[in-house]
Amino acid sequence: MPYAAAMLFRLARPALFALDPERAHRLTIALLKRMPRRELPRAVGPLATRVAGLDFPNPVGLAAGFDKDGEVPDAMLGFGFGFVEVGSITPLPQAGNPKPRLFRLAEDEAVINRMGFNNGGAEAAAARLGARDRRGIVGINVGANKDSPDRISDYARMTEAMAPLASYLTVNISSPNTPGLRALQDEGALRELLDAVLAARGESGPPIFLKVAPDLEPSDIDAISRIAIEHRLGALIVGNTTISRPPLKSKHAGEAGGLSGQPLKDLALQRLRDFRRATGGEIPLVGVGGIATAHDAWQRILAGASLVQLYSAMVYAGPGIARQIVRGMETLMQRDGFASVAEAVGSE
Ligand SMILES: Cc1cc2nc3c(=O)[nH]c(=O)nc-3n(C[C@H](O)[C@H](O)[C@H](O)COP(=O)(O)O)c2cc1C
Repeated sequence: MPYAAAMLFRLARPALFALDPERAHRLTIALLKRMPRRELPRAVGPLATRVAGLDFPNPVGLAAGFDKDGEVPDAMLGFGFGFVEVGSITPLPQAGNPKPRLFRLAEDEAVINRMGFNNGGAEAAAARLGARDRRGIVGINVGANKDSPDRISDYARMTEAMAPLASYLTVNISSPNTPGLRALQDEGALRELLDAVLAARGESGPPIFLKVAPDLEPSDIDAISRIAIEHRLGALIVGNTTISRPPLKSKHAGEAGGLSGQPLKDLALQRLRDFRRATGGEIPLVGVGGIATAHDAWQRILAGASLVQLYSAMVYAGPGIARQIVRGMETLMQRDGFASVAEAVGSE
């Protein structure tokens, strides 16, 4: 069944690509909601790995932004992702930016988005996620409302509301599409934010992951790493979309927003290496940005990622990409003579 469904999505690609990208996305979510429930990935397999106290069946996750409202985490786990991150979710429902705000750059295997945290809000998401039977690792990525007078208190509220429902919580301060949000990555603001989030989470809550932008200066990287270690975060997710524009072929190249997919790959890998150096391996890293193949994913592991995530490559390859990458990584791990993912992390 998983293979049939993955194949179906590949066959449906031309039809989906004929639609406006946001309509295609909505249709995909609607189809996924109707899919029968499937087996979750085995908890023990060659790629099983323990990070931040959680047992991941494999290190390949679905990045935030695909399932913003937590509607289809189980369907996506069923495609073989080792974990799924839903969100970003904000306290209040929010419409996001005016459309069009999502662009496929097919010639570049890339996406540009300026969605602006469109989501149905915390209450609806909590009801939906609370109704799951909660097998499988589902992280909840939280954000702040655009018009909030106090963004730090938005993150604290979200932490309180979502902690009981999440395997881990991601504090997302790296979206380029909410004006001023990324200023929370500055040293003083970040300390204050993480103090508030950790207080709201309490002693027994889930691990807190922090998601950063790839557009950071070396001094930012050092400061964020220090603060993350001090606050004993579960992991750093490196990272979000970029506002930079490497050379692109598509006619949409000039659209404002965050760029993801293949053209982000080199920058994301470089940032991962920067964070590995700055953290000295004291905190797990999640490598994200332009991962499309088992080789890309394995390269990220060797460069210091304990886990990886992807989104844009799935737009082009379909959800079968999760199993393809997992299988390929098993082969690469064997080729390189590692007995576990953990042993390979940062060994380049
Ligand atoms: C359409 C779209 C929406 C996204 N929305 C979010 C979001 O709400 N929160 C977030 O943390 N990241 C969001 N992201 C960023 C992804 O999680 C990921 O960090 C980024 O796309 C790089 O990975 P990729 O090259 O594999 O896509 C979004 C990405 C895309 C393409």
